Amino acid sequence: MIANWDVKYETNISEIDSQHKKLFRLINQIESIYEENKSHLSNHSKLLIDAVSELEDYTISHFLIEERVMELNQYPELEAHKKQHDRFTDKILELKKRLTTGNLVTNDVELNQFFSDLIQFLRLWLTNHILKEDMNYKPFIKLVL
Ligand SMILES: [Fe+2]
Repeated sequence: MIANWDVKYETNISEIDSQHKKLFRLINQIESIYEENKSHLSNHSKLLIDAVSELEDYTISHFLIEERVMELNQYPELEAHKKQHDRFTDKILELKKRLTTGNLVTNDVELNQFFSDLIQFLRLWLTNHILKEDMNYKPFIKLVL
């Protein structure tokens, strides 16, 4: 099931909302590749690795912008929020390493499990983080970049 954007995810900060929408699109892109090629993912490993890399790069730059906005507005929970971003970044780097080193990309059964877990993780993380942590800073943001 593809994650759909919904008004409940809106921070009302247009730059951040459009970045969050793009994150949804990137996750959905990974999910589409996965769903369409479930039984022979190894034939599409380059496409999958590229999609995960794009998500990783985009997420990291999005976090930096979000952190600058929180900083600019002296958000009191900035440090705790940053820690969540760092945890996510570490996890995605670790998963990417598993994907790009060793024999994972040649094993369809393991790849299937890997992507099924990854998609679940991404979707849950993104929606939970936006709905809880990002909504917490919403009332503090008066200035944007
Ligand atoms: Fe965040």
